[in-house]
Amino acid sequence: MDKLIIHGGKELSGSVNISGAKNAVLPIMAATLLAPGVSEIARAPDLRDTRTFLRLLEILGCSSKFNNNKITIDTSNIKSFEAPYDLVKTMRASFYVMGPLLGRFGEARVSLPGGCAWGPRPVDYHLKGFEKLGAEIILEKGYILARAKKLKGANIHFDIPSVGATANIAMAAVLAEGTTQISNAAIEPHIVQLCEVLNKMGASIEGIGKTNLIIHGVKSLSPVSITTIPDMIEAGTFLMAGATLGNITLNHVDPSHLTIVLQKLKQAGCELKIKDDSITINKCNELQAVDISTDVHPGFPTDLQAQWVALMAVANGSSNITDIIYQDRFAHVPELNRLGANISLTNNIAHVRGVKTLKGAEVMSTDIRASASLVIASLIAEGRSDISRIYHIDRGYEKIEEKFKALGAEIHRESE
Ligand code: UD1
Repeated sequence: MDKLIIHGGKELSGSVNISGAKNAVLPIMAATLLAPGVSEIARAPDLRDTRTFLRLLEILGCSSKFNNNKITIDTSNIKSFEAPYDLVKTMRASFYVMGPLLGRFGEARVSLPGGCAWGPRPVDYHLKGFEKLGAEIILEKGYILARAKKLKGANIHFDIPSVGATANIAMAAVLAEGTTQISNAAIEPHIVQLCEVLNKMGASIEGIGKTNLIIHGVKSLSPVSITTIPDMIEAGTFLMAGATLGNITLNHVDPSHLTIVLQKLKQAGCELKIKDDSITINKCNELQAVDISTDVHPGFPTDLQAQWVALMAVANGSSNITDIIYQDRFAHVPELNRLGANISLTNNIAHVRGVKTLKGAEVMSTDIRASASLVIASLIAEGRSDISRIYHIDRGYEKIEEKFKALGAEIHRESE
């Protein structure tokens, strides 16, 4: 298992290119299953999760290539409709193949994802949605078997605007007979891109970017060539590192995806220069404590909550950081405290009392974003930090140590 060694306290400067978004590329890879033929995805981030998804597509019968951030997927010879436990347990997004398989072939057998590092994470909205579209759902030896002769359009409402369920149901509904309405749909930038990609393939989706999606079923779809949107979570992570460590310019970013994050950084005292596709952040010497609460888009993303906690750990004053999307997503807190932070937890609120400085220590990654918060904190901390189990970070951050090294950080990877 690899670990990251960081000698903290080094100033950062320079520019960094933001990669394509993990949470956009995975559902788009699943969507290619909807049309026989060869689809191309440019600016695909080379991540453990992207590679895992390609393995899954290969198990289903696709052939693929992945070179220079371009993925080519040939879906002409699908021979299996089953996503095995081994893959689903390492990456919940594997569940995304259910909608397209059901939509195109009327059958899917996908391992039920278990719990994850931050709580139970149910998939009941996905399953209820497929049922409403007319699928028969059976739980069999830990697998969900979904079958339908022909899906039929339906009205589907989510109590919480789930990203995954919106994507999965939309991918099933595009080939259903008649019209489907998803109310209280997610509007995250990656959902917007997925719907645009589906329309480019020949689907008919109205209301893209709004909470009410109307999907008129079509008979068939065609393969597609697209470019993945920038990763707003990777961008937010670099911004939070820049806020305490130096002057960094982020290129190939979409600032409109990060409106609330940029507002909060300004409120904390950071100086930002925002252009169409770049953001420059200057180190803030008097960082002020600022409360946040996560929310669905355009609210503060839960995927940047852990990184914000790391930043607030060295701010002036105390802040409360609340996660309303995932109540248990705080595995980073005890690890940050090992680095000298002063954070306590009450239910889903982290109370952070800012300290002058952090001190290097051995810490452990528990999930993708928690690991990113440990990288930020270790870059700030005086002395050496060892971050173990960094396979978590490799799931969602492309070449993270190379990118930070190029900005002047002292960071390297070691195999244990
Ligand atoms: C996606 C992202 C993840 C991010 C999350 C919230 C991907 C691959 N993952 O996860 O990085 O943290 O959105 O922005 O894009 N819920 C239910 N039942 C369901 C589905 C969801 O109760 O069937 C609840 C969840 O427990 C959670 C909330 O809805 O409280 C939002 O979850 P959801 O948006 O579905 O997250 P994911 O799609 O799993």
